[in-house]
Amino acid sequence: MNKKKLLILFFILPCMALAQKPDRGLWKSVVSDYSPDSSIFASAYLTHRKTLALDIYVDGKHFLNIDSIGLVTDAGNYHSFRKVSKKRASAILEAQTPLLWGERKGAIQTCNLQSRSLSLKRGSLCFNLYVANNGVAYSFSTYRLPMERICRETTRYNMPCDGSSWSIPANFESYEFLYREQPISRIQDANTPFTFRLDNGLWGSIHEGEIDNFPEMTLVRDGDLSFRTWLSPSADKEHDFAIPIANSTWHHSPIRTITIGRKATDLTNSTFVPSLFRSRVHDSIPLDHIRPLKYIGIWWGMHLGINDWTPGPRHGATTENAIRYIDFAAANNIDAVLLEGWNKGWETWGKGQHFSYTEAAEDMDIDSVCRYARSKGVEIIIHHETGGNWKEYESQLDSIFSWCIAHDIHAIKTGYAGGFPDQELHHSIVGVNHYNTVMRKAAEYGIMIDVHEPIKPSGWNLSYPNLMTGEGVRGQEWNAWSEGNTPSHICTLPFTRGLAGPTDYTPGIFDINYERIKGDTNVRKWNMKDARECRVHTTLCHQMALWVVLYSPWQMAADLIENYEGHPCFRFFRDFDPDCDWSEMIDGYPGQYAVVVRKAKQQYFVGAITNEKERDIEIPLEFLEPGRSYRCTIYQDGEDAHSETNPTSFQIKEKEITRETTLKVRLAPGGGCAIHIR
Ligand code: NOJ
Ligand code: CA
Repeated sequence: MNKKKLLILFFILPCMALAQKPDRGLWKSVVSDYSPDSSIFASAYLTHRKTLALDIYVDGKHFLNIDSIGLVTDAGNYHSFRKVSKKRASAILEAQTPLLWGERKGAIQTCNLQSRSLSLKRGSLCFNLYVANNGVAYSFSTYRLPMERICRETTRYNMPCDGSSWSIPANFESYEFLYREQPISRIQDANTPFTFRLDNGLWGSIHEGEIDNFPEMTLVRDGDLSFRTWLSPSADKEHDFAIPIANSTWHHSPIRTITIGRKATDLTNSTFVPSLFRSRVHDSIPLDHIRPLKYIGIWWGMHLGINDWTPGPRHGATTENAIRYIDFAAANNIDAVLLEGWNKGWETWGKGQHFSYTEAAEDMDIDSVCRYARSKGVEIIIHHETGGNWKEYESQLDSIFSWCIAHDIHAIKTGYAGGFPDQELHHSIVGVNHYNTVMRKAAEYGIMIDVHEPIKPSGWNLSYPNLMTGEGVRGQEWNAWSEGNTPSHICTLPFTRGLAGPTDYTPGIFDINYERIKGDTNVRKWNMKDARECRVHTTLCHQMALWVVLYSPWQMAADLIENYEGHPCFRFFRDFDPDCDWSEMIDGYPGQYAVVVRKAKQQYFVGAITNEKERDIEIPLEFLEPGRSYRCTIYQDGEDAHSETNPTSFQIKEKEITRETTLKVRLAPGGGCAIHIR
């Protein structure tokens, strides 16, 4: 053991434990470990009250205390333990992110794992502690607990000091909220990823991975700087959830993760959360059709209110329109076309929701459209809105997926816009198990999925690489029928929602002020606001930059194709390669700005965005290979651009560069910049 470790173990640790919570001091150690680089130390122990606690130290500073880890069940309380087993298991986990797709293909993460059992009166709980160079995680598994219901989880997170935080409110139905920056001491409740910067300078983000047969966790205030876990309840509301499995089996909690950094970009550049998962890529999944995609779709017109999902004079997904989109995709190096409103049942949306997933609307010849798309080398992304009627959808999965394969369709966008039957909540154990069932069933068919109104992403894409991306974010659609999304909301996403997994924000709107619909007297107000009173609140170049800044292996050019035809900036989307090999956030701060580079084969794509403030940014190109010169095309805000007053002003510059070059770019208020290097 080196000197640093000795110092923490014998001096700093006991002092801090005493200074922190004298009444809860260490009674019996459970497990403890250092990160492979010795900078992080985590110690799990039973307190004098016999509750299970975890202390985390970073660079010798107290970072976080988690206490009362455990459960209250219908068969008794499982958060007070009598005995610690003699046996303990330890391992070094070496995980590699999959090579199929991802922000950092093949990145290797090493992590120390310690496990030990704690006995209860009946049954036992096995506690697992993971300590890596960039985070700490824990999970627990129960065995033979004589329970049918878990009433609540008792775990609490206690911050050592105040700081800033970025999150959305806790909610069990939706993630579609604006991100807010608040002092930790002012947060009432929050969903995860809950990102924070402590006043001692350390950064962290609380989240959870591999959620299965367990409801989602949110955080709710429980003391000055403390938060209790608040699980999504089952419909009876008296209990958090029921466990619908045999009592004699193991039951695993999600892996509760805390990503740790010394600066904001340490969080975004981390591979910590993905590296912990118990299950790896299943050999049985047919992988042939699983791939990153750029897509356009019959979509934005419905949100603007100039098209309908239902048949009629303004029906969007007609045969003719689908062919027009397929032709545009084929001519413009776009891989796929999304069809929304192609099927029967849309008139029941919000009125009981009975959609057909195998029958097309009368003015949509789906067989010919699929054949035509295939002949043009264009993938069809078929849309399945369930309106929340998960039971009906789940009961037909085999026939739906067989129908897709017969039509050469390997990509589905699902949607759950509407309440679940029987008053169950989207993020409850019922929801979690449904979404996971669809993911697993689609995997058997080798079908890719993009989930809208999803559960929180928890790293499943690593075991199920067919789970490509998802919404779970207040995305572009809100700009069509609400006061819209602020640039600071978007600048918070990479540091919060983005840490959980790929984000289908559906960026890339060019007609920022909706000039095309201004004179249209038939615009249908179908949601909160008439689209003619709405707009996007960024510049055009900011919209382009989002293709790089917000990671998703499926990236949408969301605007009407009429707004792309002949536009010089569309070249960036045409040239873009969504199959990135390596990524790095060069600079950034939540809510303020982000500069990201992604490498795809021999090309690089850089995206930079700012919030409401204009900003001069410097982009050192040290990531380029030495001794080579590259050409780059820079799409940046025009001199007079401003997200509110002049959002579509842009300039395109061509440059010769090397790795010694530092690009200097001015971003307009709400602005951005997209760069293609080859
Ligand atoms: C909400 C989804 O997020 C959006 O993309 C979709 O167009 C509508 N629901 C209709 O299904
Ligand atoms: Ca949505």
